Amino acid sequence: MPSLFSNISQPAIHVDPDEQIELRARAAGEHRATALAHPNIAFIKYWGNTDHLQRLPANPSLSMNLADLYTVTTVAFEAALTEDLLIINGTSVTGPGLARVTTSLDLIRTEASLNLAARVESESNFPVGSGIASSAAAFAALSVAGAAAAGLALSEAALSRLARRGSGSACRSVPAGYCQWLTGDDQTSVAASLAGADHWDLRDLVVIVSQEHKSVGSTGGHQIADTSSLQPARVAGAESRLAACRQALLARDLAAMGPVIEEDTIIMHAVMMSGHPPLYYWHPATMALIQATQQWRQEGLPVYFTIDAGPNVHLICEAQHAPAVEAAARRIPGVQNVLTSRAGGPARLIEF
Ligand code: DP6
Repeated sequence: MPSLFSNISQPAIHVDPDEQIELRARAAGEHRATALAHPNIAFIKYWGNTDHLQRLPANPSLSMNLADLYTVTTVAFEAALTEDLLIINGTSVTGPGLARVTTSLDLIRTEASLNLAARVESESNFPVGSGIASSAAAFAALSVAGAAAAGLALSEAALSRLARRGSGSACRSVPAGYCQWLTGDDQTSVAASLAGADHWDLRDLVVIVSQEHKSVGSTGGHQIADTSSLQPARVAGAESRLAACRQALLARDLAAMGPVIEEDTIIMHAVMMSGHPPLYYWHPATMALIQATQQWRQEGLPVYFTIDAGPNVHLICEAQHAPAVEAAARRIPGVQNVLTSRAGGPARLIEF
């Protein structure tokens, strides 16, 4: 498909991300499938776990899938392999990255009573380190492709659970559009769609101020969230922020939703900055964009910010304001690039 952005590279596997293939009958002994999943941006953030191994979140969260960004993953269980292989954007990955994928494959193999190693090949059309949680799209695609390759016909909830075990936020990339992920136990803590992608034409403008690799990623961050004395207050208020965000989302009311998502982001970063060790993800340009967003609103441009575990800023606005927001963002010193995405569909099989 033609890229909307000259700066977003195309995966080697060319797909139309709006199409889901017709499932064909499987040949005996065939253990191969390809899936596509989008990353998502959280409006109400997941930060901290009640169980790190199972990735049971301390609080519920809410997000939007990003249509214009995607990861395509092929899983092939092969009798000729003695161990799992992982190839990301053409490069073989070993060590902790492979171990994390093997953990997800083990869940699939146990469920399917399958005793074969797998070759996993994954390509994304967005840059690593762009402030977009690549693990969400990666583990959503891995779960959908892996389950199908192993011959499992899993429900959306079961696929969301499987994705959650690989990366918490990945569970929200399984259902379509705008998704909510509830707290609960291993069976019940899954994501479900609140509204499809066509419910509301919001745009996420990812404003890149740094592409450096973070010294502490999300997994490490979740593990130290409880060391901040502010985390109990953040968790206690998450339910009511989520309810306010959900109500505004369903009413397509950005003036009501925007202040809630900004507050939720700032509370999460206050937890990060006040933990042990403290996590300071912001750069000077991050703060400049926060202040500029307030200025733009005063000037009549309806746009709100949200920031994940990194320095890059996601600007959320309605489609008709995206060109003006992009132009304004590009004028801020330190801004390297702006990637724009519409709301996206669910994780889905594209080859089977
Ligand atoms: C700040 O899902 O990336 O983006 O489960 O360890 O993979 P792991 O963490 P991850 O955490 C996402 C944190 C966040 C907020 C969010 O997306 O809700």
